[in-house]
Amino acid sequence: MGNFMDAIQALTERVSVPQLTGPDITPEEERVLFQAALRAPDHAWLRPSRYLTVRGRAREALGRIFLESEADWQSLPQDKQTKLLNMPMRAPLIIVAVCRPAEHPKVPADEQLLSTGAGVQNILNAAWALRLGAIWRTGEMAQKPEVARGLGLADGEIIVGFIYVGHVNCTLKQPPELPLTDYVQDWPAKSS
Ligand SMILES: Cc1cc2nc3c(=O)[nH]c(=O)nc-3n(C[C@H](O)[C@H](O)[C@H](O)COP(=O)(O)O)c2cc1C
Repeated sequence: MGNFMDAIQALTERVSVPQLTGPDITPEEERVLFQAALRAPDHAWLRPSRYLTVRGRAREALGRIFLESEADWQSLPQDKQTKLLNMPMRAPLIIVAVCRPAEHPKVPADEQLLSTGAGVQNILNAAWALRLGAIWRTGEMAQKPEVARGLGLADGEIIVGFIYVGHVNCTLKQPPELPLTDYVQDWPAKSS
């Protein structure tokens, strides 16, 4: 560690990195990622978010869960089976972001999901600042009850995303510069 990026540079330049590789994320790097995650805003401090780390051989077990979540998976073509088994092998670390919205008179479930989303974004930004790559993925695996069960989630827990974290293994995308005025307007609008 040590070679980390200025916060504003990280926030304004981060891109998602779809192709990731080893070496493994170090315990120090992981600690930073989760310290950042736990600084997400959280209305009423309900602590709705938790994170599972899947690394090394555990990724194979996750691939198995992905495969066996498919109906009649034994009948799938071999290449489709291999694809599902290998999905978690696309990065040295997969973080499963989990939200368990609680009943609360002032904090709707959506706000609690947003809090977990903010935690995920903090992880993405922290990874980038550490000069790692990361990408937030969901897809059907995040929706399937079989996957949630396989991961040992409790009733009411929701998979907000699988965050793949590793070292950059592709050309980084150059995001287009967006004109801020398309997205940001003064209110009330000035009459001309
Ligand atoms: C909730 C959520 C789920 C996503 N799921 C996927 C996914 O399953 N697969 C994927 O390729 N990209 C997924 N994305 C998009 C990428 O994470 C990323 O935002 C997108 O590639 C744009 O890249 P950028 O972050 O560099 O702008 C998801 C994004 C969000 C916010």
